[in-house]
Amino acid sequence: MKIKKAVIPVAGLGTRFLPYTKVIPKEMLPIWDIPAIQFIVEEALDSGIESILFVTSKEKYSIEDYFDRNFYLEYFLNKNRYIEKIKDLNKIPQNFKIYSVRQKEARGLGDAILHAEDFIAEDYFAVFLPDDLIFSKKPVMKQMKEVLEIYNKPVLGVERVPWKMVDAYGIIKPRIIKNRIFEILDMVEKPQIDKAFSNLGVVGRYVLPKNIFNYIKQTKPGVKGEIQITDSLKVLLKEQGILAYEFEGIRCDTGNKYDYLLAILTYASMHKELKKKLKKDIKNIFKIRL
Ligand code: UTP
Repeated sequence: MKIKKAVIPVAGLGTRFLPYTKVIPKEMLPIWDIPAIQFIVEEALDSGIESILFVTSKEKYSIEDYFDRNFYLEYFLNKNRYIEKIKDLNKIPQNFKIYSVRQKEARGLGDAILHAEDFIAEDYFAVFLPDDLIFSKKPVMKQMKEVLEIYNKPVLGVERVPWKMVDAYGIIKPRIIKNRIFEILDMVEKPQIDKAFSNLGVVGRYVLPKNIFNYIKQTKPGVKGEIQITDSLKVLLKEQGILAYEFEGIRCDTGNKYDYLLAILTYASMHKELKKKLKKDIKNIFKIRL
């Protein structure tokens, strides 16, 4: 079972990152020198994805521009023989097809995914939530595709979250099938700790079947008028069954300010030179008194 298409919803308002996100998409926040969205696109491409649909909105055009060419900049760098800078520019992935569709109103993740209906003809497709940046040896979507290939069922990426954080996640009731692979028996969105089936929380990687669109259409908007994907997944669960896969990798949430800072430090810790320098400097930073 090959998955060649991915959907990346980027039409959210990013209110946890205001005021920055008033005009600049949080997906364009840099992790060192690379915007967070590039890591997501790289994971997709390294997992065999060939076409990506961004579900986008008015303020987010810079994401598409980033993956497009900038002829004047290329001309300028070439003319001045800025070899190193040309190399930096060439690190932006180009070998994929970009599509986009506008979600005119932020009506929830379910609604955002529904905007991909015309784009998907295949049985299964991948969804990446760009807030979840996952550093791993083998790309997480590649790991999940391998699960699909064996079981031919939808797969959700899950992670063991701290118990005191279960109220921030969709939590699954698992039945273990094999190391890291679970059958999902039930799901609950953002439960209080005493109502949580487990501490296995759904994070931003999904392998979904084409018929999810029918379930989303049947889903009624929730309290804030938003169509949540969890409601549609619960129907899918009953009708078709869903697996959960506890992926191998380190996840950083770049959608809120503090965890974003941790994401940059995590990135730095994985680069020898940066790590060495940072270790030294950070001691001094904590000594600063104004
Ligand atoms: P979030 O729940 O993180 O919302 O959406 P958000 O707007 O991005 O951020 P906050 O909570 O206001 O700070 C999860 C993912 O779904 C997308 C977002 O862009 C994000 O990638 N999304 C959400 C949409 O594309 N459309 C929506 O209507 C809602």
